[in-house]
Order: sequence, then structure tokens, then C-alpha cells
Amino acid sequence: MSEPIIEFDNVTFRYQSDTESEVLEAAVKNLSLKIYEGEFVAVLGHNGSGKSTLAKLANGLLLPESGKVLVDSMDTACEQDDIKIKQTVGVVFQNPDNQIVSTIVEEDVAFGPENLGIEPSEIRRRVDESLKIVGMYNYRKHEPHKLSGGQKQRVAIAGIIAMEPRCIVLDEPTAMLDPVGRRDVMAAIKRLNSELGITVVYITHYMEEACEADRIVVMDDASVIMDGTPREIFSDTEKIRSIGLDVPQTCRLAQMLRQSSIELENDLLSIDELVNGIDKLLKG
Ligand SMILES: Nc1ncnc2c1ncn2[C@@H]1O[C@H](COP(=O)(O)OP(=O)(O)O)[C@@H](O)[C@H]1O
Ligand SMILES: [Mg+2]
Repeated sequence: MSEPIIEFDNVTFRYQSDTESEVLEAAVKNLSLKIYEGEFVAVLGHNGSGKSTLAKLANGLLLPESGKVLVDSMDTACEQDDIKIKQTVGVVFQNPDNQIVSTIVEEDVAFGPENLGIEPSEIRRRVDESLKIVGMYNYRKHEPHKLSGGQKQRVAIAGIIAMEPRCIVLDEPTAMLDPVGRRDVMAAIKRLNSELGITVVYITHYMEEACEADRIVVMDDASVIMDGTPREIFSDTEKIRSIGLDVPQTCRLAQMLRQSSIELENDLLSIDELVNGIDKLLKG
């Protein structure tokens, strides 16, 4: 495989305590992980497992206490590469309200590339393209604060895309959204990956969303404890449950059916697969 676009090499990070005497537990501990160009990786883990810290370490917003984070082979601890690193890996956070900086949608999206000193005609092209890919082009003259949560989040994503990163890390971008907003944001993110080839690291607590990724990384207690395809991860129901996570509803239903001696296969993920599995049994 190609060189990783992000590599966490035995990374430990600890937040500073408010009181000087107390030393906090590491929020990320001896974590190693490689993210390859073009991948769509979902990151799962219960509250406090270190996911947001991982996101901030991914482009140098936080620096490791020990170990290294490499972005396209550049060490995030190396100050002179900081701008290039932040241009390569963009991060989108949970709350879209904290990420909107302008009073007009297209100006908001232009903010990042303007700061990079890009020339106006190129900014225009990037703003239009970014708004189209997230499905917000028709709202380019609107006021961001009047948009729905899902629309705001898509504008925030467009603002990152306009800087043309090769990788985008999203930290629970759908957590504050209603189901429609969630679906639209998810669809936009999938397009970034499939149409623009942008590497996606998608932190979520929705198991169904994680199923859409090529690969799932599960964090627990400041480290990575599982890494595999959605099928591999969710077929180990017991392990997922033991760390306080749930499996997708389809897996749960399949498991309940199996417990009632209905001989379904162990790796049914989507609703279609489950329906087909049941159909096969009924016909067989
Ligand atoms: N600013 C902070 N100061 C001190 N501790 C923090 C801070 N942010 C997070 N933590 C702690 O670090 C650990 C990991 O947090 P976080 O990375 O936010 O996890 P997650 O995103 O998986 O919920 C938790 O124990 C959390 O309480
Ligand atoms: Mg978090």
C-alpha cells in the first residue's frame, strides 16, 4: 500500500490539570495507527475514550507528549511545516455554530482560502465547487445563522474543502443534528471521498454511520483496541458490547433471530443483506 497520509506512532498525550500538583491520566496512550490515502475510516468509542484528542492530534492542534504524528511524512511537532500540515489535514468539529465566521455563506467558505493567500478567481472556483459538492450551492447568498444545523455543518465542511485538503477529519459532525440533517451531512461526506478522493476519518457514535466506512477503528481507554472492516468489527458483538458500545440494529435483530434458532449468517450488516438472508431461509 501507499505511504500513510496520517501516521500515529506510539503517541501519548496528556491534558494539563487546573491544579498544578495533579497529573491527569493520558487521554491518548501509546496509540499507533496508520490512515492511508483514499480510505474512509470511521472511529468509534464511548465518551472519554480519546476520539476528540485523536482528531486534534491529527493536524497538530495538539502535540504529543511522546511518540510522533506524521502528516504526509511531516512531523506535526515541526513548527515550520505547520501551515502545510493544516492544509493537508482539515478538521471539522461537532458544533457548526463555532465554525461559522461570516454573515454570508459564500464568504464563510472563502475565509480559509483567503487566509492561504489564494488569488480571487481561484477562490471563486473553489467556493462554488465546495458548495456544490455538499449540496449548498443554492444557499450561497444566504445568512448562515438562519440555516438548519445540517445545512450549517455542510457549509462548515465546504469551508474546509475549499482549502483543498487531502484528508478531512470529522469529529462527530452529526451529533447535534436531526435525522434529515444527519443523512444529508453523511451523503456529502461520502461524496468527498468517492468523487474528490479525499481521505476521510469520521468520528461518530452512530453505529449505522460507521457501517458505511471501509474500515472501523474502535478506541477504548485512550487507545485503539479494534481495527477492521465493519463486517469484522460488528461480528464480534460481545467485544463491542463489553466496551459499552452497541452493534447496528440489523446485527442485533440477526442475533436475536439466531438465538431463536433461526440459522442466519453472522455477518449481515445492511437491511438488504438481512432481508435477503431471511428470504433465503424461508425459501430454503
Ligand atoms: N481540555 C481538557 N482538559 C482536561 N481533560 C480533558 C480535556 N479534554 C478532554 N479531556 C479528558 O481526556 C479524555 C479523552 O477525552 P476526549 O478525547 O474528549 O474523548 P472522546 O472524544 O472520545 O469523548 C477524557 O478523560 C476527558 O475527560
Ligand atoms: Mg469527543
